[in-house]
This record gives sequence, C-alpha cells and structure tokens, in this order.
Amino acid sequence: MGRRALETEPQYINSPMTSAAAFLILAVKDDSHSLATVRSVIGSTDDLIKDVQVRTIEVQFTCNVGISSRIWSALSGKPMPKELAPFKEIKGAKHTAVSTEGDLLYHIRAGSADLIIEFEKLLLEAFGDSVTALDDVAGFRYFNGRDLLGFVDGTANPVGLALPEATIVGDEDPDYAGGSYVVIQKYLHNMAAWRAQKVETQEAIIGRTKFDNVELPDATEGQKSHKTLCTIEDSQGEYDILRDNMPFAVPGKGEYGTYFIGYCRYLWVIEKMLERMFIGNPPPLHDRILDFSTAVSGVTFFVPARKFLSDLGG
Ligand code: HEM
Repeated sequence: MGRRALETEPQYINSPMTSAAAFLILAVKDDSHSLATVRSVIGSTDDLIKDVQVRTIEVQFTCNVGISSRIWSALSGKPMPKELAPFKEIKGAKHTAVSTEGDLLYHIRAGSADLIIEFEKLLLEAFGDSVTALDDVAGFRYFNGRDLLGFVDGTANPVGLALPEATIVGDEDPDYAGGSYVVIQKYLHNMAAWRAQKVETQEAIIGRTKFDNVELPDATEGQKSHKTLCTIEDSQGEYDILRDNMPFAVPGKGEYGTYFIGYCRYLWVIEKMLERMFIGNPPPLHDRILDFSTAVSGVTFFVPARKFLSDLGG
C-alpha cells in the first residue's frame, strides 16, 4: 500500500447497518488545558476503539469522530476543509431546520449496546471535564431496518464503489482527501397524528409502499414525496449520500424519533436536500414528513481521515 493511501484512509464510514448505535454530541471547553486533553484523547481514538473491539470477536464495533467548524482551527491549527461551515438554519413557510451547538460527534455503531456503553464510559472518563455532553442518543434497530413511522429506511444508500464515490472527499480538496462531511438532525415524531393517516397517504408522503418497500413513481409536478425531494441530480447525474438513521424512543415520556445522519463528499448535496424538504420544491410545498416530524437539532461536522486524528495526538 502506498503512503498516500495510508494518509487518506477514511474512518469507518462504510460500516454496515448495526442493531445499535449512539450519537454523542460534545462541547469542548475553550481553555488551553482542555484543548490539549481533547487533542490527546482524539489522537488515541484508534487505540480506544481497539480496546473495545477486542472484547468480542462475534460483534461488530466501529466509531467515527466528527469535528465542527467552531473548534476546527483551535484543535488542529489547520485551515478548514473547503465546505465546512456551521449548519445553516433553513426557515420554510411552516417548518424550520434548526441549527444547534456541537463541537464533536461520536457516531458509534455496534452489534450490541453493551459495547457502545463501555466505549462511551472509557471515552468520557478520558475527556474528564474538558468536554460537556450536549446530547447522547441511543438508537436501536426496529423490525429489521424500519423507522418508527413504519417504513424501511436506508434502502437507496449507495453500495460498492458508489459508496466511497458519494461519501469520501477526493482530489477536489487534496489536504482533506479521505474525509467526509456529516450532518445530523434529531427528529421527534407526532405518532398519533401519523397513525391517523391512511397507509396510502403515508406511502405518498414517503414515496414507497409501507409493507414491501416498493418505489412509487415520482411526481413531476405539485407535491413531491420525501424520496423525490431528496433525489439531487444535475447534468453529471445523481448525487447520493450515505444515511444510517436510527430510531430512538423513551416510551415512558412519549418520545419517539428518528436520528438522521448523512455522510457526503459534497456538503452542498445534503444542504440542497434540506432546502427542498423545508422550503419545498416548488415552494411552499414542503416535505410532508415534516408535518409529523420536528427537527430539534442540526449540526454539521467533518469526519477526517484516520491519520488526521492520530496526528492531533502529537
Ligand atoms: C429516503 C425516512 C430525513 C434523505 C428515505 C426513505 C425513508 C426515509 C423511509 C425511503 C427508503 C430509503 O431509500 O431509505 C426518513 C425519516 C426522516 C428522514 C423518517 C426524518 C424524520 C431525511 C433527511 C434527509 C434524507 C433530513 C437529507 C437531508 C433521504 C434520501 C433518501 C431518503 C437521500 C433516498 C432517496 C432516493 O430514493 O434516492 N428517507 N428520512 N432523509 N431520505 Fe429520508
């Protein structure tokens, strides 16, 4: 393997879907002592992952670390990846994609929740008081890949060579080749209102059948389905992203949601999808999934190549 390949080796972007995941969002304290601790902990990410991976040979465990624009320069002393910027709030006529805080994302995926908890415990002990946890959502696999709205989620994800092509930065930003932009949004569902819709209405909103997940034809005018609004094309063809959304729930509190996570090579692709969902295409025909799902967070990160993380450790 050549040196360039080693330098640009991505994190675990292409991990298969798992039965459990965690989305841990941290704020980093700005004093120099905290920044030094954070650099060193991020620098030893690979070791920490190995410590947990080795505990079981049957169960898969991976983790990706994302860094936001706010903390990028203070942590690394390096210029930002070309498109990295704070999540831009998008205000549609009826719904808003809110922009919220977050300096670091740990996207942890595993075959069982015990490994995730163990990793988070070790990680947060290592960080000590240099970070504050802003959110920590435990996702679970629901009926073989359905979201809590009852639809199979993740079908159109790219596979094979199309996966790195859609998600990994290449020669367009050579300093950050091997990295990936990632956008997260936490959505809370109004389950009673969704359940009150006929299945045919739900299917028209998503753009697929509910029971067997068959694609419905795209509307060419008027109200478009979620699937159609999130299909981005230009003269070069279609631009895919990789989603690994997870359902999460606290039934005792009536909380049911979808944690959206999208990896992409070009950040503008996810931004365009969000614009089409929230503002509508054509405006004001927003994505009707939003009439039943409220975005309560929105943060953009860059998940750099592995070597960038280990270099932070000095
Ligand atoms: C497709 C659910 C938010 C991007 C789908 C599908 C479902 C779904 C069921 C059809 C099956 C599939 O291909 O996976 C949801 C839910 C969301 C959500 C429950 C939150 C409440 C988003 C957001 C984006 C997005 C915020 C992007 C910014 C896509 C894309 C597709 C898709 C790109 C595939 C379109 C195609 O067929 O090419 N989503 N989604 N989704 N969604 Fe979402």
